[in-house]
Amino acid sequence: MKRIALIFGVTGQDGSYLTRLLLKKGYIVHGVKRRSSSLNTSRIDDIYQEPFIKKKNFVLHYGDITDGTSIFDIIKKTKPNEIYNLAAQSHVAVSFKIPEYTSNADALGSLRILDSIIKINPKIKFYQAGSSEMYGKVQSFPQTEKTPFYPRSPYAVSKVYAHWITVNYRESYNLFACNGILFNHESPLRGETFVTKKIVKGLCRIKLKKQKKLYLGNIYAKRDWGHAEDYVEAMWKILQYKKPEDWVICTGKQYSVKQFINLVAKNLNLKLFWSGEGLNEKAYSEKNEKIIEIKKEYFRPAEVENLKGNAAKAKKHLKWKPTKNINALIKDMINFELKELSYE
Ligand code: NAP
Ligand code: GDD
Repeated sequence: MKRIALIFGVTGQDGSYLTRLLLKKGYIVHGVKRRSSSLNTSRIDDIYQEPFIKKKNFVLHYGDITDGTSIFDIIKKTKPNEIYNLAAQSHVAVSFKIPEYTSNADALGSLRILDSIIKINPKIKFYQAGSSEMYGKVQSFPQTEKTPFYPRSPYAVSKVYAHWITVNYRESYNLFACNGILFNHESPLRGETFVTKKIVKGLCRIKLKKQKKLYLGNIYAKRDWGHAEDYVEAMWKILQYKKPEDWVICTGKQYSVKQFINLVAKNLNLKLFWSGEGLNEKAYSEKNEKIIEIKKEYFRPAEVENLKGNAAKAKKHLKWKPTKNINALIKDMINFELKELSYE
């Protein structure tokens, strides 16, 4: 019997990598996409060209994580063995602008799926896309499954709700429901307004003289950045483990945004000269052109300064470890961007 997976958030960065992984493993994959006035399937359209996929094994359905009726109907119709909830308003800064919508999608969306599972088939396994943002103002270092949460944005507060409702349904209804607590993971398919993609794209365009300047916010925040391709493998492993548990997935290495900028510049052979402090900090090129400036509008009302995880539990029990370090990630992102720019 072929295994059936249902992915909420299939059109996103992780949805695209997870779909490819599951199809390669022989799953039938159903994905939920939102109706939008412009195309939102660019990250998954080329999957149909892949030699490993039979068209009928990958099926898309219209639905929305804020709409309980569509969730219930899709789960009932597709009869999945595994559900991956990747759907979210995933931008932390945007969550301060649309807090009510973010809570509806990111917190109650998980509840809606869990509640449909107990009504339709409590044997369905469930993966909740939890986030290192839940650690927020970090209470210990490095962060593990036991570190208390201290969320710092409507996004993170919503993810904490989704985390605990997943634990609660697991304990109350004996569901195979798991939380992945994933640290930042990036790729060529990363959304354009996240900082790594913004930096890689901006510096590639500056290098090719298609753009003059890049504007950023807090470049002293530190993150534990991995590659999305590695992290979707962890999601799958979490649902294959003998019992439902919660897992930290990270690299254990930390860089500041400024270090990330410098690594990208080095890879592009762009020399950067930094000067000034705070909002006046700037980076100049060899020809003394201002390339990077800091703008207040990119700062958040409350910041998460310092994330670094410890994935010892996943390494030991899931036999998972990251295969791509920060340099491999940056090279992958740069190569993709330069290829895209060559078509412009
Ligand atoms: P992403 O690229 O922003 O993708 C989010 C997906 O959710 C997209 O398919 C989006 O659809 C969909 N979506 C948003 N609102 C929806 C709604 N109301 N109904 C149905 N679908 C909706 O995010 P990602 O980086 O792939 O992350 C996947 C998940 O992991 C998210 O839940 C995110 O919060 C979480 N996470 C991400 C990271 C990371 O570093 N990437 C780390 C920890 C946790 P559209 O394409 O139509 O917008
Ligand atoms: N987006 C953005 N844009 N961030 C900037 C900028 C900028 O111009 N300048 C500095 N930053 C800083 C942010 O303030 C933050 O401290 C850091 O760069 C990373 O920002 P993002 O790339 O937007 O990611 P994030 O860490 O806030 O959230 C991502 O990772 C979470 C996991 O920890 C998202 O993918 C979340 O969905 C995910 O849960």
